[in-house]
Amino acid sequence: MDRILITSAIPYINGIKHLGNLVGSQLPADLFARYMRGRGHEVMFICATDEHGTPAELAAAKAGKPVDEFCAEMHEVQAEIAQGFRLSFDNFGRSSSPQNHALTQHFAGKLAENGYIREVVEEQVYSPTDGRFLPDRYIEGTCPNCGYDSARGDQCDNCTKQLDPTDLINPYSTESGATDLEVRETKHLHLRQSLMKDKLDAWINSKHDWPILTTSIAKKWLHDGDGLQDRGITRDLHWGVPVKKGTEDWPGMEGKVFYVWFDAPIEYIAATKELTDANGEDDVAWQRWWREDKGAEDVKYFQFMGKDNVPFHTLSFPSTIMGSGEPWKLVDYIKSFNYLNYDGGQFSTSRGRGVFMDQALEILPADYWRWWLLSHAPESSDSEFTWETFQADVNKDLADVLGNFVSRITKFCRSKFGEEVPASPEFAYQDSEQETQLIAELTLKIRVYEDNMAKMEVRKSAQELRAIWALGNEYLQAAAPWTNFKTNPALAAMQTRFALNLIRLYAVLSAPFIPDASEKMLSAMKTEDNSWPSDVSEALNTLLAGHAFEVPEVLFAKITDEDREIWQEKFSGTRD
Ligand code: 2FM
Ligand code: ZN
Repeated sequence: MDRILITSAIPYINGIKHLGNLVGSQLPADLFARYMRGRGHEVMFICATDEHGTPAELAAAKAGKPVDEFCAEMHEVQAEIAQGFRLSFDNFGRSSSPQNHALTQHFAGKLAENGYIREVVEEQVYSPTDGRFLPDRYIEGTCPNCGYDSARGDQCDNCTKQLDPTDLINPYSTESGATDLEVRETKHLHLRQSLMKDKLDAWINSKHDWPILTTSIAKKWLHDGDGLQDRGITRDLHWGVPVKKGTEDWPGMEGKVFYVWFDAPIEYIAATKELTDANGEDDVAWQRWWREDKGAEDVKYFQFMGKDNVPFHTLSFPSTIMGSGEPWKLVDYIKSFNYLNYDGGQFSTSRGRGVFMDQALEILPADYWRWWLLSHAPESSDSEFTWETFQADVNKDLADVLGNFVSRITKFCRSKFGEEVPASPEFAYQDSEQETQLIAELTLKIRVYEDNMAKMEVRKSAQELRAIWALGNEYLQAAAPWTNFKTNPALAAMQTRFALNLIRLYAVLSAPFIPDASEKMLSAMKTEDNSWPSDVSEALNTLLAGHAFEVPEVLFAKITDEDREIWQEKFSGTRD
């Protein structure tokens, strides 16, 4: 049994995420967490809301609420939606927690002690119109790297380059639109990432099995242009983690807070502590996941995120960890994703374009979305959501293949043998070629499925699972127990028993993708045995003759053309 630590990029607090965000981090992380638990490993799966920074302040102001109140409310909203999608976090924390304050200040103190922090008098953009220094997100302008005209002060959405607000060409205040911006002097802290360059380079080069998407982005920012630059890690905001050196005040830094991207990844650790604190456990309970001197040396740590988050997780956060000089756990594997597009354009939070997580659950249960999104995960390139493919794929995979198999065999059994697994003393699977052959085929496919799941090859895993489901239908078609029933009822009974056991097997294999349907299948088969089919033949002998079951309700209703047209229309504009 391994110990598996999984973190998903933590969503900003300032609004409900769209399906593109979901498939780019939380959903595949959940798939992996569920799979690893299913295989008997000890899993710690962490996510949280990313509550600091200007997006939170701006959104709270727009909602007319104090920022702490706004964050508390939005956290509940996001937690509930996450639950609706069956995201099985062990903790969904908050980056504004006292635990994160303390840990963030601790890391800053260690970095300062080790010479990785420089105090600099910085020139910063001041807006006389707004009467304040304008932090990153309050400024937009043209990207000096790619020319994109709405680059933000902290990062360009178009080319992913991390920016400083003063890098922007033709900057303007997003608060007031003012363009009469001035540059004034103020003191800030810089993290001396540049000192870490060789260490980071060696570390990334040692990760031969990482996805190319991850390493190519990391290497680009390490080597292209001016390479890895020191980064400002403080901001002139009220809401955030106050700048301190451990527990001590930091002279000259009064009234400033840490930059949101400095404290956000530290929240992965803090959220684990939030959980163990809430359970009344001691510090070793979270440290055994995060501190190599406290038992975490054999933990395997996996991170999931969209490609825009990669620079922060391959360069900035590792600089924090390495620079602390303490034995904190570094990530072992970073799974990153491209973007999911929506119907010929981009999903966009700011423009309200696409389907948002709350809206999705209002029209269909989680499993429909989970299956479609995961089976189209934007791994090797961007992928696209269209209502036509969504309808066609869901109807085919979930209703025609899996749902139909379950319904056909349970109904057949009920009508010919009653609602219990039929006996056939005359026939065992091993006496029949058809079943023996299917067991061999299933074994092969399940091993491929396991391999893909372990490698986090999301689409390939979905493909294999779909093929495993299809084998069931092909089997029923070829075995035709309804025909045999007339001439050889014992043979039909054996085939029916075999197929009913397949339902349980499918429930177990499919649980990471479609947990609700899986539950329904297990409960229809009146079993709690969700043990992994390491030996397929044994797994298909779990439900023995005489075991009661019931015909489940329809697992997946088909999406009609009318549904599709209504939704297509409803989601064609932008959300207000
Ligand atoms: O891009 C985002 O949505 C960020 N809130 C992700 C932060 S991930 C990590 F650093 F915590
Ligand atoms: Zn750019």
